[in-house]
Amino acid sequence: MSVTSRLQDIAAVGRDASSGGYRRLAWTDADLTLREWFAGEAAALGLDLEVDRNGNMWAWWGDSSAGDAVITGSHLDSVPDGGNFDGPLGVASALEAVAELKRRGVQPRRPLAVVCFTDEEGGRFGVACIGSRLFAGVLAPERALALRDGDGITFAEALAAAGRDPRALGAEPDRLARIGAFVELHIEQGRGLVDMDAAIGVGTEVLPHGRWRVDITGQPNHAGTTLIADRRDPMMGLAVLIDSARREAAERDSVVRAARATVGKVQCTPNAVNAIPARVTGWLDARAHDEATLDAMLEAIGRDLLHLPGLQAQIQVESRTPAQVFTPALSAALSHLFGDAPMLATGAGHDAGVLAEVGVPSAMLFVRNPTGVSHSPDEFTEDTDCETGGAALADALAHLLTAETLPR
Ligand code: GLV
Ligand code: MN
Ligand code: MN
Repeated sequence: MSVTSRLQDIAAVGRDASSGGYRRLAWTDADLTLREWFAGEAAALGLDLEVDRNGNMWAWWGDSSAGDAVITGSHLDSVPDGGNFDGPLGVASALEAVAELKRRGVQPRRPLAVVCFTDEEGGRFGVACIGSRLFAGVLAPERALALRDGDGITFAEALAAAGRDPRALGAEPDRLARIGAFVELHIEQGRGLVDMDAAIGVGTEVLPHGRWRVDITGQPNHAGTTLIADRRDPMMGLAVLIDSARREAAERDSVVRAARATVGKVQCTPNAVNAIPARVTGWLDARAHDEATLDAMLEAIGRDLLHLPGLQAQIQVESRTPAQVFTPALSAALSHLFGDAPMLATGAGHDAGVLAEVGVPSAMLFVRNPTGVSHSPDEFTEDTDCETGGAALADALAHLLTAETLPR
């Protein structure tokens, strides 16, 4: 098999024919099918599957209780209408790397697991990296269980419907302490590597980022009879939010010092063509090179929403993630192993960042994305780069499994 043939095996799962994108939201049928696929692949490789309290799947080669374990993997869920690489490339590459290590006859000194973290994108319940955050103890189970999807279904209800016990959720400090190194391979989600003419690179950090919910309320009224001067239209507040987010980010953004702000999700109530809405909610995703820039951008956007004539705006933080720096010694060892592969930060969130945040030695390996497009049906990477990434991951794992000590 190969990395690309493994991806091909799941190419039809959760694909929407009209958009050509993937709708593999957590705990939906598509997600459950992918989880079954993963269990089958693990069994075919002779790995022992464990599912932790939070639904993360671990396929072990060696004794899972031994400690100093080398972990690799990623996630299988997608954003709504996402691509086939963000997440699955890391899982398929990890499976193929294990197959390759077995072909090479590598004799590991320590256990290895391929992990599939649950709900990395937060595409259904709004908070990203739910599986790894719960596992690492940086998201309280009570908070996760109360989250609701767009249909009003709670996370607790979704878990129960998938046959999982919602009361089981929680941190797993012992399992966490047994991780000696985590390496997540991922498609690059920008044009860093293609601009450097490099097939693979190594991550240095995940930039500070977060999600904010902005509720704007006004006066619902008739679209045809209400004088323009009399309107209290919350849609106009949303327009201010969108414009402010764009301006404040653009003022600070550059190739080397990122400042990004996006309104990618909106909800309008009652959502009628001939009515001025009662309420509009916009979700703001903001990220920046450093905390101070992120704060300055948010303060400026907040100021613009303070005095919307006749409207009220309420801003709530849904998640805020600090800079998550990968382990320098581990990252440097990988870069060296790949012939001084370039090192680059990322504006995208990852489970490896969550583990790094709580002190687990973690690193990321990025695979070139020729257009930089991601979170889109147009996301793409060349087959040859997929295989180069898979082979590099196998080399990295062989190194980590046989080294006397792990880089920390
Ligand atoms: C996840 O991919 C994110 O960066 O939002
Ligand atoms: Mn991802
Ligand atoms: Mn993603």
